[in-house]
Amino acid sequence: MNGGKPVTTARLKRMKREKEPIVVITAYDYPSAMHAEAAGADVLLVGDSLGNVVLGYDSTVPVTLDDMVHHTKAVVRGAGRCFVVADMPFLTYHGSLDRTFAGAARLMQEAGAKAVKLEGGAEIADTVAALTRAGVPVMGHLGLTPQSVHQLGGYFIQGKTEAKAQKLIDDARRLEEAGVFALVLELVPEELAARVTEMLSVPTIGIGAGRFCDGQVLVFHDMLNIGRPGPKKFVKTYADVGGQIEAGIASFVNEVKQGLFPADEHAYHAEEKADGVYGPRA
Ligand code: KIV
Repeated sequence: MNGGKPVTTARLKRMKREKEPIVVITAYDYPSAMHAEAAGADVLLVGDSLGNVVLGYDSTVPVTLDDMVHHTKAVVRGAGRCFVVADMPFLTYHGSLDRTFAGAARLMQEAGAKAVKLEGGAEIADTVAALTRAGVPVMGHLGLTPQSVHQLGGYFIQGKTEAKAQKLIDDARRLEEAGVFALVLELVPEELAARVTEMLSVPTIGIGAGRFCDGQVLVFHDMLNIGRPGPKKFVKTYADVGGQIEAGIASFVNEVKQGLFPADEHAYHAEEKADGVYGPRA
């Protein structure tokens, strides 16, 4: 850990050099950010996976810049020393540079993110270079790029043939030259992720990319089994929070139905001093 100091891009690069694994967790609101920070995460990614796990869409495509700004603001309020990265959503960085800059400005100035993440390789390298020249830290994202799901035809492992692996390696080089401070590798064979990690001076952050990346990211709801995420080989369930939520609510339902809640201890009485009952959260 970092002794409570804010995590920076410089710190993340140093962690790669010093072989200290980087922990990234997605977060979408104040409590998820606050809990992830308290648990020791380095980076909070306001992923556009919020479309799937929070908003109930079947892909990230419908997520808008307004959605990202709204959720990023809440995450920033709970982020503490964590470095907050926000996804630029579908088709917000493929038109004019002016529009791309306006989107990045909203995420950083209005919402308070420290960096943005863009999906894609050589085809967005000039955009990444323009952003980084303007002082916007950019995280890259290669392999399975969920915003292209309808073009890819589904959520499949990427880079399995030598030609496709070589293309990903070339894309990673282009992104590094364009100035990314880190690169997410999603759903690629771990041998390929290891080659890219070895080759780059910036950290790689894996998700479904095996053991040899410089850091790992998981989706908050996947690792905590919230919202019935369904089995995925690359996910480990660290706590059954979804199960706990349902059990807790089922007890509440049961107690209200049976007239057990509220009990006398939960009721106010006229003689009682009951100021400040909505005091600040701990
Ligand atoms: O949107 C997201 O959560 C992501 C991670 C899966 C890397 O991009």
